[in-house]
Amino acid sequence: MTDTAPSASQTTFSGYHQSQPAGADEELARIGPTTPGGEYMRRFWHPVFITEELGELPSLVRVLGEDLVLFRYAGDKFGLVHKHCPHRRASLEYGKCEPRGIRCCYHGWLFAADGEILETPGEARDAEPAAKVRARTRLGAYPVIEFNGLIFAYLGPPDAIPEFPIYDAFKIPGITIRPYKAPYRCNWVQVLDAIMDPVHTSFLHSQISHAQFSEGMGELGELGFYERHENHFLGSSTRRVGDNVWVRVNELILPNFTQAGAAFAADGTASRYFGRSAFTRWVVPVDDENSIAFGWGNFGERGDPHEYNTKEGCELIEQGEILDRPDEERQRNPADSEAVEGMGAISTHMGENLMPTDRGISLYRRRIRRQIKELAEGSEPPQPRKGPTVHTYGQDTVLNLPADGANDDRSFLRQVGETVMEIEFEHEGLDDAARDEAIIAKLRDLETNGLNRGSTT
Ligand code: FES
Ligand SMILES: [Fe+2]
Repeated sequence: MTDTAPSASQTTFSGYHQSQPAGADEELARIGPTTPGGEYMRRFWHPVFITEELGELPSLVRVLGEDLVLFRYAGDKFGLVHKHCPHRRASLEYGKCEPRGIRCCYHGWLFAADGEILETPGEARDAEPAAKVRARTRLGAYPVIEFNGLIFAYLGPPDAIPEFPIYDAFKIPGITIRPYKAPYRCNWVQVLDAIMDPVHTSFLHSQISHAQFSEGMGELGELGFYERHENHFLGSSTRRVGDNVWVRVNELILPNFTQAGAAFAADGTASRYFGRSAFTRWVVPVDDENSIAFGWGNFGERGDPHEYNTKEGCELIEQGEILDRPDEERQRNPADSEAVEGMGAISTHMGENLMPTDRGISLYRRRIRRQIKELAEGSEPPQPRKGPTVHTYGQDTVLNLPADGANDDRSFLRQVGETVMEIEFEHEGLDDAARDEAIIAKLRDLETNGLNRGSTT
């Protein structure tokens, strides 16, 4: 018998009282067809496939709880249609890609990418039943756009197709991109949460596992959370690394667009002025219990080092470790997959105890809930479109600003973090190049003049 066995007098063990599992946040977690969350998610363009992975054969795609078939036709055109043929429900996964669309394997019906029935070859061309079916029936189909190696789809009402949003991140001079995907065996919300959780970087990615990104990330930063334009959420973490102050900013544009700072290009030891995100990615729900992060790794002077421009490099950027690892390795050095999949297929949100450091998560979840409700009442959610491009804020700035022993350094870090955010917010109206230039100039000014920046001008 061990001396840790509970005695009859011990009443602090509460397992029995908590054995009933808590519930999930159904409103956010359920994204299938006809659910309020699914209706909301269907108002946006989502990446659903890596173009290079789509060959001459159709591919099954599951997205927002719906089984679809993606196919290539006429060389560089793409179609995304319902899986089952409207004749007698054969799967178009076994269809033939042809110059005008996809042909069902069973009785040869030919469909255009918009779902029009072009041929019903088993029936006489002019036979009335066939003509009637061709006129009144369509195969379910969705619009797609191929962009920079990813195929995006819009699954919402056809009379409300939003403009395809162009982000400033798509056009950063000197950046080389690489499309990638990272599947997660769990609900999309728990994957998305991590972007608004700057604290997990110091623990999961540093102190608990090992320095998966850099030693500097192990420092606990001073946090700031910000909201912009109804749908844009930012989480900043400001750390001291020697004589430098490192301000890293993560961002989320609702519902699922995410960026951060560098994964490997910044560690707080070298100056950096408005370095941009190592990734530009979307967390796309496959169904309620699976999701895929699709995006690009960004490489170059303002992105991550070119040596990470590989499949494995993108996995490291995405979550700190490669995806395919032995179980023991996953236990010894957990990364995001282990943290979020370990919550279960759908996390039991009602069993959470959110802390002040979880404020970014509370803010964005609350906003999505509100937008789901407003959509149900007839108001379309805001799209990420402001000006010629959508300005984004994910970044790293490292400034040489030594601690002043006479003053509280944590308060100084907090003020530097807030000032960097103000500088980012000051240049909304400019085009991308002018904005970058102005922000970088002001950051250099901050480094030179400290928090009294601008007082000499
Ligand atoms: S089931 Fe597709 S053509 Fe008959
Ligand atoms: Fe992470």
